[in-house]
Amino acid sequence: MKIFEANISYQVLVFLNEFLKNITSFEIANQKMFDAFGINHFFDDDDFQSLIKSLSLSNVNLVEEPDRAEYGDFQTNKDLANKVAKHLSIRNVSPEIVIEPTCGKGNFIIASLSNFKAIKKVFGIEIYKPYVWETKFSILDFFLSNPDSHKPEITITHCSIFDFDFKNISKQFPTEKLLVIGNPPWVTNSKLGSLNSSNLPKKSNFKNQNGLDAMTGKGNFDIAEYITLMLLDAFQTHKGYLSLLVKNSVIKNIVFDQKEKQYRIGEIEKYCIDSKKEFNVSVEASLLYCQLNSTPSLKCKEFDFYSVENKLNFGWLNSKFVSNITDYIETREIDGVCPFEWRQGIKHDCSSIMELERVSGHFVNNLSEEITFEEDLVYGFLKSSDLKNTVIKKTRKHTIVTQTKVGQETSYIQHLYPETYTYLKKNISSFQSRKSSIYKGKPQFSIFGIGDYSFKPYKVAISGLYKTYHFTLVLPQNDKPVMLDDTCYFIGFDRIEYAVYAIILLNSKTTEEFLKSITFSDAKRVFTKDLLMRLDLLKLASIIPQQEIDKQIIFLNNKYDLSINLSQWDNFISEMTPVKEKQLTIFG
Ligand SMILES: C[S@@+](CC[C@H](N)C(=O)[O-])C[C@H]1O[C@@H](n2cnc3c(N)ncnc32)[C@H](O)[C@@H]1O
Repeated sequence: MKIFEANISYQVLVFLNEFLKNITSFEIANQKMFDAFGINHFFDDDDFQSLIKSLSLSNVNLVEEPDRAEYGDFQTNKDLANKVAKHLSIRNVSPEIVIEPTCGKGNFIIASLSNFKAIKKVFGIEIYKPYVWETKFSILDFFLSNPDSHKPEITITHCSIFDFDFKNISKQFPTEKLLVIGNPPWVTNSKLGSLNSSNLPKKSNFKNQNGLDAMTGKGNFDIAEYITLMLLDAFQTHKGYLSLLVKNSVIKNIVFDQKEKQYRIGEIEKYCIDSKKEFNVSVEASLLYCQLNSTPSLKCKEFDFYSVENKLNFGWLNSKFVSNITDYIETREIDGVCPFEWRQGIKHDCSSIMELERVSGHFVNNLSEEITFEEDLVYGFLKSSDLKNTVIKKTRKHTIVTQTKVGQETSYIQHLYPETYTYLKKNISSFQSRKSSIYKGKPQFSIFGIGDYSFKPYKVAISGLYKTYHFTLVLPQNDKPVMLDDTCYFIGFDRIEYAVYAIILLNSKTTEEFLKSITFSDAKRVFTKDLLMRLDLLKLASIIPQQEIDKQIIFLNNKYDLSINLSQWDNFISEMTPVKEKQLTIFG
C-alpha cells in the first residue's frame, strides 16, 4: 500500500485514520504526534489536507517508482540494518544522539530504535519526499507494534544533505554520545556528470580536482566519500562512533587521506559485506566503523561482516600505503625502485580501423573489411586478455603503428607506404571522431604510448586490469617486436636472456606476495606504472636462490623450446646495479 508514493502498513493506515479523525489543523496534529511518539514536524501545512484525503482507504494507490540513478539509491534491507545495529550494540556502542544522514526508507532508524536503549534524539535527513513519509510511517509502525519501547525525540528532515547544517547538531549536543549510522548514496561524480545531475555540494573543490584529473579519471570519486568526510568534519571531535555502509574504495581513500588529513578517528574497521546478496549489485562494499574523537589512526582492520573474522589489516606503514600490512612486512625488502622503466602500451582509440586480424594473405579489420597493404607498419598486438600464458610467440591481433614517437608527423606514410596511407585516409573520420582531447592538434593518425621502448624485441608484460599476479614474456613475431595495448604495462629488453631472468624474478612467490600486499583488488587498474616501478629487481635477484632460477630456466626451455642459460646473469646484475654502486665495487 502506498500513500504519497511511500509504502505504508495497514496498521499505520488504520491508526492515522483514527488519530486524525477530528483534527483540523496540522499544528495540532503535529503536537499530538510529538506527545505520543516524539516525532517532530510529522505533517507539513502543504500536504496535511491531501494526506487526510488519501487516507480514506480506497485512495491508497500504487505508483511506479521513478528512475533515481542520480541519488545512488540502494536501500539497506531491514535484516542488514538490524545486524549492523546489533553488531554495534554488542561492541557497547550506546548512543544518545543518532544521525542517519541520508535515511531513505528509514531502516537504520528503526534498527537503532530497536537496538539502542539510551537514545535521546534521532535525526534523519532525506532528499526524496516519499522516503521521508515512508520513514515516518515506519517509525509509527514500529511504535504501534512495540508500544512499550522507549521514545526519543525524532526529527526527519526533507532536504539535501548538502544544505543541512550538521555543525549545528554538533554545537547543540557537545557532550552527548553520538552515532552516525547509515548508507550514503552509491554514485560517482562522473555518473552524476553523465546524468547532468546537480546532486552535488554546490561549491566544492573536493580533493582539489583540476581539469587534468577529471580527464584522466583520477578525479572520479563517490559522493558517499564526500558525505563521509563532511560528517567527519562536523563530528570528529565528538564522543561517539561513525558506522556507514560504503564502497570499499571509499574506505581505502579515507584511510589513505588520513596521512594528510589526520581526522580524529581511531579503531578504523572495515566489515566486508556480500553486496550481491544484500543489494543485488556487483560492487565491493563494506561497513566502515570508527571511533570519533580519537588519536588519528592510519590503519584499518578488515573483517568479514558475517563471521567477524579478521582477514587482514591495511593502511600506512611509515611512508608506505599497503593493502596487507603483515604480508608487506614479510616482503618489503623488495620495495624500492625498479632498475628498468615500466611502460604502458599503445593507445589509439580507433580499434575498428587500427586493429587487424590476418586471414590467409590479407588483413581483416574490426569492421570485417578485407584489406591488403604494405606490412611494414603492421605489428603483432596483445591486449590484457591475451596475457594468459607465460610465454607468447604468436599474436591473435595486429595493429598499425603510425609513429615511432609521440607527436611525429604521419604524412611520411603517404610516400613510403601509399596503400597503408590510402586505407588510413579513407577512414580519417574514425580518427577525427576520437573523443579524447589528447588527439587535439596532433598529426592526423596519431597514437600514444609509443617510443624507442616500444620497439624492444623482448618484453615482459602484465595486464593492468586483471587481478592476476602473473607476468608474460612476449617474444618477437616474424622478427618484429610485438606491441601491447594501453591496458598493459611492460619492460623491454634487447637480450632474450635478460627478459627471461626478469620474468623468473617477477613470477616468484616473493613478488606475488609483495604485489598482493600493495595492490587493492577494488581498484579500476590493479597495477599502475607507479606501483610496478616499486619492484626492486636487483634486490629480488639477490633473494631468490640460484637453484630456483636454474630450475625455472630448465622449465621454460623445455616448455617453450628456448635455449637460455645463466651466461648473461652477471651482465644482467651489472645492468641493474646503479652506476655509483658499481664504482664503489671497482674502487672499494
Ligand atoms: C544508498 S541509499 C540508502 C538509504 C538508507 N540510508 C538506507 O540505508 O537504506 C541512499 C539514500 O540517499 C538519498 N539521497 C541521495 N542524495 C541525497 C542528498 N543530496 N541528500 C539527502 N539524501 C540523499 C537517496 O534518496 C537514498 O534514499
